[in-house]
Amino acid sequence: MTSSPHAQARPLRFNAFVMNTASHIQHGQWRRPDARQHEFNDVDLWIEVAQTLERGAFDALFLADVVGVYGPVGGNYTVNAREGLQLPNNDPSVLLGALATHTTHLGLAFTSSILQAHPFEFARRVSTLDHISRGRVAWNIVTSFQESAARNFGLDRLGDHDSRYDQAAEYLDVVYKLWEGSWDDDALLRDKAGAFSDVDGIHRINHEGEHYRVEGPHLSSPSPQRTPFLFQAGSSPKGRQFAGTHAEAQFVGGSTPEQVRTIISDTRDVAVAQGRGPDDILFYVALSFIIGSTEEEAKRLEREYDEYASEEGFLAHANLGVAQDDGTPYPPDTLLRDITTNGNRSTLASVTHSIEGREPTVRDLGELSAKRHIRVVGTPDQIADQLHDWRAAGVDGVNVVNWVLPGSYTDFVDHVTPVLQDRGLQQREYAPGSLREKLTGSALTNERHPSAKYRGAFR
Ligand SMILES: Cc1cc2nc3c(=O)[nH]c(=O)nc-3n(C[C@H](O)[C@H](O)[C@H](O)COP(=O)(O)O)c2cc1C
Repeated sequence: MTSSPHAQARPLRFNAFVMNTASHIQHGQWRRPDARQHEFNDVDLWIEVAQTLERGAFDALFLADVVGVYGPVGGNYTVNAREGLQLPNNDPSVLLGALATHTTHLGLAFTSSILQAHPFEFARRVSTLDHISRGRVAWNIVTSFQESAARNFGLDRLGDHDSRYDQAAEYLDVVYKLWEGSWDDDALLRDKAGAFSDVDGIHRINHEGEHYRVEGPHLSSPSPQRTPFLFQAGSSPKGRQFAGTHAEAQFVGGSTPEQVRTIISDTRDVAVAQGRGPDDILFYVALSFIIGSTEEEAKRLEREYDEYASEEGFLAHANLGVAQDDGTPYPPDTLLRDITTNGNRSTLASVTHSIEGREPTVRDLGELSAKRHIRVVGTPDQIADQLHDWRAAGVDGVNVVNWVLPGSYTDFVDHVTPVLQDRGLQQREYAPGSLREKLTGSALTNERHPSAKYRGAFR
């Protein structure tokens, strides 16, 4: 591991991992009496969550997103509808616009697939959000793994797994040009006695590539961060290559510190091979917490959550693009080693590695991918002990998965945060500046990042 000792001594970073829907990950829990995620259409719920997170000095609210339904091509979505499995869902970027006006420090991260928005439109929307939030926006770059998402955007099938990452690289090229190169720093004058902008400082980008043609100029003037802080999720070999090149933070899908340690060290190696620094990427894992004032109480609560868990919801979610060539699901007894997926290879690998002593099957994928992994159960002190282990594996941050909204975050902030702060595992207050400044100390992407080459490139 090439991580510096300094990086190890820092507090962990904390994001709330949520989705603008009723049933994101912990399927079935919306039926609990104390759950309010079924009110997700009500912006007041989200304002309450965001303000709670800010009270606990969380770094960001991180919104997942999908633009299709889970399941085989042309399949029915009875379970999705019954379980509220990411259906209905709302656009996360619109929600962030509202939350930006009710928070001051909290980072606002959202997922957007390269499939769903043309890069010109996307770049403008992100710049607008970065202006509204005064520099607190992050983008989680994804390439989509649902066949139905492809059909919603005019394609017959998803592009091949690795070629989607190639298209993503071109997509990034376009948005980097718009964010970093189209406007010079001093082009916006707002001179009431003269010109609003200096035309000589506003440039066309004239991008012509395999997938996109964009003339420009960018229609928004430079926002505080220009390029939003960049997350990437997906850690197949091609995903690591992509993250090592572009990500400022990677959301790692692994279920044990050992698995995650390998992904982190591989991705750092890619970063270095690309001329970046080993510490240029922050690594986040997803964990859920079941908090009790005693271990018994936490275990009792865990049993209660398990009683509400929807097996059907987990199985429908775990499909994750794992389907046969004709789009139908594999039979549950199919050995994982006999299947390939054009969808989410990180989760497939993570489940395969977590079964010992027998061959893992598609059924294990259903049971393990969403339900059993990533839970930390105990008293605040026991939780802090486990977080020490994750930090020791090289993890920089945690995406905190919820069971109930807003209760999972209220409980965390009220009971776990003070213990973590006492142990130096969570920050007590926010650093000044934009999200990137808070996380890395730098206002813009650093000079080793591939976006930096477009600064001044179109003058
Ligand atoms: C932890 C994690 C979270 C993800 N969140 C999303 C998401 O919210 N929306 C989405 O479309 N894809 C999401 N993905 C999918 C990835 O962006 C990627 O498309 C997929 O994992 C395939 O890439 P891979 O095989 O390199 O993992 C996520 C993947 C992981 C591992």
